[in-house]
Amino acid sequence: MSLSPGRRKASRPGEDRPGEGRRILLGISAGIAAYKSAQLARLLKQAGHEVRVVMTEGAQAFITPLTLQALTGEAVRTSLLDPEAEAGMGHIELARWAELILVAPATADLMARLAHGHADDLLTTLCLASDAEKVMAPAMNQAMWRQPATVRNARRLAEDGWRLLGPDSGDQACGDVGPGRMLEPEAILAALDDTPGDAAGLTVVITAGPTREPLDPVRYLSNHSSGKMGFALAAAAATLGARVLLISGPVALPTPAGVERHDVESAREMHDAAHRLAQGCHLFIGCAAVADYRAETPAEHKMKKREGEHTLTLRLVKNPDIIASIAAREDRPYVVGFAAETRDLEAYARDKLARKGLDMVVANDVSRAGLGFGADDNAALLVWREAGATDQRTLPPQPKSQLAMAVVRQAIDRLRAAPPS
Ligand code: C5P
Repeated sequence: MSLSPGRRKASRPGEDRPGEGRRILLGISAGIAAYKSAQLARLLKQAGHEVRVVMTEGAQAFITPLTLQALTGEAVRTSLLDPEAEAGMGHIELARWAELILVAPATADLMARLAHGHADDLLTTLCLASDAEKVMAPAMNQAMWRQPATVRNARRLAEDGWRLLGPDSGDQACGDVGPGRMLEPEAILAALDDTPGDAAGLTVVITAGPTREPLDPVRYLSNHSSGKMGFALAAAAATLGARVLLISGPVALPTPAGVERHDVESAREMHDAAHRLAQGCHLFIGCAAVADYRAETPAEHKMKKREGEHTLTLRLVKNPDIIASIAAREDRPYVVGFAAETRDLEAYARDKLARKGLDMVVANDVSRAGLGFGADDNAALLVWREAGATDQRTLPPQPKSQLAMAVVRQAIDRLRAAPPS
């Protein structure tokens, strides 16, 4: 396996002028999350960037151009056919001015128009006319985000070079719960430093979700894993530019943009897929809640209730330990495992590190209310092994998308510093 040592950063226009910010064109489209764009504009300015705002017509129903003008100190552009504005800085000039186009929020409609190369208003025209780096923070109702059309558009935009930040999962303004919330402005600002080149050239394999172990043709053993953390890890690795292969048990989650998904059901299917895909991969993250046992012999036909018998005995056999078997390969990648514990986090994490032959363990305290299993937030303790020395890092409670980025970053940093032998 060849890895270039040290983190590689793609050079960006602003980096040629150390200490100076970048010229950012902030596009705002018509979503309720637009009210957060004011805070985002403020944070961008505070971080030293030059900010010019373009709003779609619908966005102005949610937040006024005057608010953004007051925050950025620049006139806000709203129309393509505005002779006065065009006489100042024409739209092609504005497209050339931008080093980064950041669309937040990006609605389902805007994503559809951009995915198809439309130029029917100022914002879409600027996106089409500009060679700047392009980033968007999608925001919409969870059902809209899950629709095949939106999934297709997100994938196409990622293929076209757009970097998609989020969306996050959780409570929505419409009362729904699920994926579609715009990332918080602070997280968007932090993600602008996530250079796509950081994981370029790396292949990352991730397992996620539960497994299902058949008892008969209609029944199975499983668990409550939602798959959210594994999918967030896949999205984070893809954002950093890795080739991401996601092996997922049965979950109700859309595939993150730019990720290659392999659906499996049982632990043995997951094991086989993991070994097939791990060949030549650099980083393996085992986030799946793999069932420890399966029925020794699943019944061929549906099992019937037996009259007069009050108990049913199932004979279970142990499933393979997928992550330990990946770590035992001769051509092993850097292997990161998860540990869900209710106490003695560090001790159990270090024990798992040694017992399974892992390189890093992400330990969660699953006894903490609102965190971990099925929740949208998580906290973790990272421990890793490095030439006998040990180190660790605490990640405080935060949305799984942010935590996932921190975990992937740390794993890539460790892997580049000390690739597995
Ligand atoms: O042993 P335990 O289930 O606590 O270990 C959790 C870690 O091991 C997770 O990374 C999980 O994905 C992985 N694992 C696995 N195969 C199993 C059991 C757990 O890959 N059969």
